[in-house]
Amino acid sequence: MADVEAALDQAGLTNPHVREYVSYWADLTGAERVEVISASDDARLAQEALDAGELLPAGEGLYYSRSYHKDTARSEERTIVATSNPEDAGAYNNWRPSSEMKPLLEGKMRGASAGKTMYVVPYLMAPPGSPLEAYAAGVELTDSRTVVMHMIRMARVGIDYINDLADPNSFVRAVHVTGDLENLGHGTPDDARYFVTVADERTILHFGSSYGGNALLGKIAHGLRQAAYDGWASGKFLSEQFMLLGITDKETGKKYHICGGFPSASGKTNLAMTLAPDALGDRYYVDFYGDDIAWLWVDENDGKLYGMNPEFGVFGVAKDTNEATNPGALHSVDAGSGAIFTNIAYNPKTQEVWWEGKTPNPPEDVTGWEDWKGDLISERAEGDDSPWAHPNSRFTTTLSNVPNVAPDFNSPQGVPIDAIIFGGRTRDREPLIRAMTDLAEGVYDGLTLGAEATFAAEGVDGQLRYDPMSMRPFMSYPEGAYAAHWLKIISQANEMPLFAHVNWFQRGDDGRFLWPGYRENLRPLLWLMQLKAGEVSGRQTPVGIIPTKEELNLEGLDIPAEDLDTILTIDNARWQQEIENRDVHLAAFHGLPEEIWEAHRRVKAALEAD
Ligand code: GTP
Ligand code: MN
Ligand code: MN
Repeated sequence: MADVEAALDQAGLTNPHVREYVSYWADLTGAERVEVISASDDARLAQEALDAGELLPAGEGLYYSRSYHKDTARSEERTIVATSNPEDAGAYNNWRPSSEMKPLLEGKMRGASAGKTMYVVPYLMAPPGSPLEAYAAGVELTDSRTVVMHMIRMARVGIDYINDLADPNSFVRAVHVTGDLENLGHGTPDDARYFVTVADERTILHFGSSYGGNALLGKIAHGLRQAAYDGWASGKFLSEQFMLLGITDKETGKKYHICGGFPSASGKTNLAMTLAPDALGDRYYVDFYGDDIAWLWVDENDGKLYGMNPEFGVFGVAKDTNEATNPGALHSVDAGSGAIFTNIAYNPKTQEVWWEGKTPNPPEDVTGWEDWKGDLISERAEGDDSPWAHPNSRFTTTLSNVPNVAPDFNSPQGVPIDAIIFGGRTRDREPLIRAMTDLAEGVYDGLTLGAEATFAAEGVDGQLRYDPMSMRPFMSYPEGAYAAHWLKIISQANEMPLFAHVNWFQRGDDGRFLWPGYRENLRPLLWLMQLKAGEVSGRQTPVGIIPTKEELNLEGLDIPAEDLDTILTIDNARWQQEIENRDVHLAAFHGLPEEIWEAHRRVKAALEAD
């Protein structure tokens, strides 16, 4: 049994509530040792992980890891939000009573860390001094060393964040127990994995995974699910799966901040990182603030809407990251960055790594190369063309490694928000960009955001998998209340942000993308900022304002005229079809504010009259 008191004394962890929490779980999980972590432990942990074979060297200051082959993504079916109030059940939050979930999780975790070290990871999901600091502190307990190393990159980690709390009992209790990965019945009726947020007790209990999306509890479970619930319960803020960037016009000296949500794997990281400093020549500079989470609030003093990224790092999709698509991401994992790669292809002899899209073709000499599962490429069966890297393979790096990270990314007061954008993967119908000036229409647009499940295969023709505000997997309270909370927070601002819907993914009949995407996405965003500044007026359509061809900066692009027409046109018939789908989608949300229904009916009527 671990001598918990001695370990906590030695680390100087004095917060009595944290001590009690650590003792309770050390005892329950049966951990052999307890170790309190600070960011400065990283080098030692890395050496230990290399010695133990948990990580492999991938060049100077770079690490490679593999997760169990059935444990490579977030599991939405196994994710649950629990509270003691049945009225907290929504369409997507998979609500269950906490009286059922807590004993169940304690049962699974009891004795499950026997023989292991329980790491105590105190963290802060905000820059210190933030007006939302009271909601940002947490302590993750985990029995995985690689999870600790990820947490050090993704969150601000250190003992001071919890010793000095204004309210010493106000921290998120986040317990992660890996479990016996090979015997959890993944995907069977006896699946033993549970990822539970007991939201009204600010307690997170995750059992049965060591993959980042399930195991880095500061990020998604606290930063998104718990924070969204806290923002609603306190009435003070929003927490969303949003990227956040700044655009500076060097000629006018003006700086704009845009945040927004796209469903997972729809381009947030790429947008925020790719709009590299030299985008569109020398005139504009793009600052990176965040790629996955933003907290939004209205400042009590100046009445402006502010946003900040609570994270300290990036957990990005590796696939298709290369010098052309995303040089920023590529250089954020340069030698010496401390980056960790997960589930890509690896060559133990040369310590090189590779993923699909890193280069047009895989390395020619396959000697020594192993796929993400660790199988030798040279021993693959004839005709086996399965990917070398897992499609959801990731890189983990700290914000300060991102070449265009904003100089004020650590600033506690956040940045004023000029526009909020939504975007999904939509093969047709959605134009390149359309702007909305009305709050209810903006929120309505977010609520009806979606992405095609996949091309052709699972997708019912033209039907989206709706993903309100890109929060479907992270929704912690009912959608009706969520919409009302959005209307309430944003209407407190003395200046409305502009809303917009973007789509980089329209396709031609032959399947090609009609818009070049990636770094060219700066162009529609610049138009949006010009619209905000009153420099252009666009063209009003039933679903918002869209740019005219003349207004959009197309310098140096070679897009066929008919493709351009398609992405700058509203297909009325397809839109009316979509509106019918929305009737059904929105009806699933109890207590949706009347303003949202009115916006829906307004758009519908405008389309019919058009
Ligand atoms: P999560 O991190 O899972 O929340 O996803 P994300 O929204 O950050 O997605 P990400 O930026 O990693 O992009 C996912 C995929 O979309 C990658 O394979 C990109 O190459 C592709 N992608 C991103 N932007 C564009 C674009 O402008 N055009 C096209 N065609 N593809 C893009
Ligand atoms: Mn995400
Ligand atoms: Mn991302």
